[in-house]
Amino acid sequence: MKALSDGLSGAGAEVKHCEIRLLKISPCIACLSCMYKTFGQCPVKDDMEGIYEDLKSADVLVMATPVYIDTMSAQLKAVMDRCMCCMLPFLTKDSTGRVRHPYAWRMPAKFVLVSTAAFPEMETFAPLIATFRAEAANFGSESIGEICIPGSVALQTEPERLERHLKLLEEAGKMIAEMGGLSEDILKELNTPPVTVDEYLAISAKYEAWCREQSKKSG
Ligand SMILES: Cc1cc2nc3c(=O)[nH]c(=O)nc-3n(C[C@H](O)[C@H](O)[C@H](O)COP(=O)(O)O)c2cc1C
Repeated sequence: MKALSDGLSGAGAEVKHCEIRLLKISPCIACLSCMYKTFGQCPVKDDMEGIYEDLKSADVLVMATPVYIDTMSAQLKAVMDRCMCCMLPFLTKDSTGRVRHPYAWRMPAKFVLVSTAAFPEMETFAPLIATFRAEAANFGSESIGEICIPGSVALQTEPERLERHLKLLEEAGKMIAEMGGLSEDILKELNTPPVTVDEYLAISAKYEAWCREQSKKSG
């Protein structure tokens, strides 16, 4: 996220970070107040209030999440659920013919996903990407790219393996700021895993030995 946002701000975009793990955000309680009492407004008063303001004025939403049991973190899912208050209770068809809600206010027009995961294969991200794309469509927004970098154990223990991706992420931020999108080439490069599965298994074996040692020490 830092590399991507350095690229964005370096190219003149105004970047607002929101580290949701540090905020107090309750899950949606399905009171449906936003749907029939106060259109567009969630009655739950917590740190979502600031996020709503930022979302209403942003052009691009970059969602960053590790893969947690095959999809986004619960913290990020809570934020996305709470954004349901942008939807009105009525129904209409979108440009593809899918039934959707019209909107009380609009989420950012463009969504980007950035993720990492402990397993080394790109397949790990399939359910997350499916959810992310479905969410973008449900909010009437467009996914301009998913950036998924697997093999977090290798990246944490041998961070130099991430260097090329960090440079590309900075380049991607610049591209989003300057062109409002990402080229197929940069997405292809970013979505090429930094380590092969066999390299990953070898690196993880060292990590396993370290884990076993720690476990022995703590009795
Ligand atoms: C609750 C939990 C569930 C996880 N589930 C998965 C998973 O289903 N697949 C996977 O590849 N990694 C999984 N992981 C590993 C995380 O994706 C990994 O720790 C993360 O990508 C590391 O990134 P970070 O250094 O930014 O935390 C899980 C980790 C936690 C804590």
